[in-house]
Amino acid sequence: MGDAMEDTLMIVKPDAVARGLVGQVIARFEEAGFEIVRMRMQEPDPDLIRRFYAEHEGKPHFPRLIAYMVSGPVCFVQLRREGAVARARGLVGATDPADAAPGTIRGDLGIDLPRNSVHASDCATAAAREIALVFDGAR
Ligand code: CDP
Ligand code: MG
Repeated sequence: MGDAMEDTLMIVKPDAVARGLVGQVIARFEEAGFEIVRMRMQEPDPDLIRRFYAEHEGKPHFPRLIAYMVSGPVCFVQLRREGAVARARGLVGATDPADAAPGTIRGDLGIDLPRNSVHASDCATAAAREIALVFDGAR
């Protein structure tokens, strides 16, 4: 039996949108068998971004993370396939582009921290919370 069908939340972050990489990032997920369920381009509301990254509040990188994420448009994408959460994390690669393997999105396209080009939910619980926050107006 294969992995259960599940959804995850991916974000094409401002550094990648600014460099014209939205299509390339989304294509990598489609080529890996993900279905696009919903997507939205937006200059994100700072409140949404602060709630999204609430678990990082108080960490040294929190201010720069928030400033970066509201520095320009992002593309929010809800993706679906079997084992979506773990597979998306694999495609995305390590958090720091300097540590991310070639062939991963951050390894190929990421610049530095916090400019690592993409977000992908880190577990199914986070995916459900993030999708509700971004697409269903949950607080
Ligand atoms: O995004 P990921 O789940 O891989 O990493 P995280 O630890 O949940 O951090 C969220 C985001 O904060 C990262 O993707 C980076 O953009 C940023 N970050 C940073 O700027 N400096 C760090 N030391 C760690 C994370
Ligand atoms: Mg994370």
